[in-house]
Amino acid sequence: MKKLLLLLVVMGLPIAAAASGGEGVKLDAVKIDLNDQASLQRGARIFVNYCLSCHSASFMRYNRMGHDLGISDELVKENLLFAADKVGDLMKAVMPKEDAKLWFGVAPPDLSLEARARTPEWIYTYLRSFYRDDKSPSGWNNTVFPHVAMPHVLFEWQGDQRAVFKTEHGMQELEKFELERPGTMTPEKYNEAMRDLTNFMVYLAEPAKLVRYKIGVYVSGYDNAQRRIRDDHARSA
Ligand code: HEC
Repeated sequence: MKKLLLLLVVMGLPIAAAASGGEGVKLDAVKIDLNDQASLQRGARIFVNYCLSCHSASFMRYNRMGHDLGISDELVKENLLFAADKVGDLMKAVMPKEDAKLWFGVAPPDLSLEARARTPEWIYTYLRSFYRDDKSPSGWNNTVFPHVAMPHVLFEWQGDQRAVFKTEHGMQELEKFELERPGTMTPEKYNEAMRDLTNFMVYLAEPAKLVRYKIGVYVSGYDNAQRRIRDDHARSA
């Protein structure tokens, strides 16, 4: 089974809904745009500051990320290198896996390929679906990933929300979230931040795609330049 899953991940097929929970959960659309460099940079900053403490993204090196996202080595060193010593290092979690497993009962998975293992919509909805649950060990639960062992690490931004459920055809489903205590961000700002983070995780899962995007733009620019030269020739002839 593991091999099959891995194969699906490698092939880039979504295995999202089947993997855990998620059944009957409505996923929200998210605008993914690998040409939006500012969004990718903001997402990288959130990822490095708030996710690398527990998760690794060990397929990625800091300087490769910086290079791809237009961040100089100096800026990477100053602003993004909390969890490592050198810009050439792989993006490894701060917390050793064994410790995390002790704390949370499950080791936080490597997030390098998460956007492909799940989907961007899944990640975007997951990051906005934590709610207070006194029965859970961490005090948090998640409608997209029921009984998730991850605490809501961004609750100060989002605030505390309560999930209101309704029973439809004998199945419990989410009716709405109620914000019980506002966070430091408005819901709109929090959604934007989670869009940036999701956008970054899509890049993370497929850095080659971003390079292809860039080459695509470059090549079509080149074509246009060639065409202009040809047109100029035609006109002056
Ligand atoms: C305090 C540790 C911790 C931090 C910080 C943390 N996580 Fe997690 N995360 C976990 C654990 C533990 C799990 C495994 C949950 C489980 O399997 O029940 C997890 C699971 C996940 C999953 C689901 C993985 C799957 O099974 O598909 C995603 C997505 C995720 N985290 C994203 C993030 C992002 C993005 C951040 C940064 C905003 C973050 N996490 C920060 C501990 C953490």
